[in-house]
Amino acid sequence: SKKAFKVIAIDGGAASGKSSTSKRLAEELNLLHVDTGAHYRAVAYACQQAGIAPTDAISLKHFLSQLVLRSHVVGRESYISFNDQPPPGPELLRSENINRCVSPYAALPVVRETVKAYQRGQVDIAKRSGFDGIVMDGRDIGTVILPEAEVKVFLVADTSTREKRRVHEGGVDAIADRDKTDSSRSVAPLRPAEDAVVIDNSDLSLEEVVDKILQIIRA
Ligand code: DC
Repeated sequence: SKKAFKVIAIDGGAASGKSSTSKRLAEELNLLHVDTGAHYRAVAYACQQAGIAPTDAISLKHFLSQLVLRSHVVGRESYISFNDQPPPGPELLRSENINRCVSPYAALPVVRETVKAYQRGQVDIAKRSGFDGIVMDGRDIGTVILPEAEVKVFLVADTSTREKRRVHEGGVDAIADRDKTDSSRSVAPLRPAEDAVVIDNSDLSLEEVVDKILQIIRA
């Protein structure tokens, strides 16, 4: 008989290790990996390119209603593109500029609605592409996007661990600022789902974290 399609949610703050953990799980279990932070980054980038500030509610609403978002599955990754441009790479999406401006856009309900519809569609893409499941990482995956997920993990790491990862994220202050904005917004704030397993990965290797999650999945 066919194996059940797995739905896994990995949430956590900036530089908490979500992305590397999710990628490894995707390899282990043949899942489609969806980095949802990239969706907010892509929308922020598209808005910036069009010259639309997060404060410009009317232009933003119109712009988002016409924005075409598409998925490109390469290996076990789902990449986002907008308005038929090639998917923007990490040099664009993970720039200092986008690190700075993404949270204000991500706090807006109109942006979250647009992104939510796109993200919900990823489950069908994973099924149609023949994966055994999907692993999405973000801030509100267990609470809002995939409340039906069978396994929900919330990753935390102490400041010194995140400080070591800071080079990739624009400085420890930038990480703390982003987490503050992401945790205090009124719509879909960063917080663990009631049924999430909280894992502190400060003193764990990637292997150990992945093993822990695999045990939870198999249990
Ligand atoms: O995971 P990341 O650092 O690439 O995410 C970038 C920003 O996108 C983050 O600061 C807040 C927003 N985000 C969100 O609001 N909800 C998600 N599920 C993922 C990211």
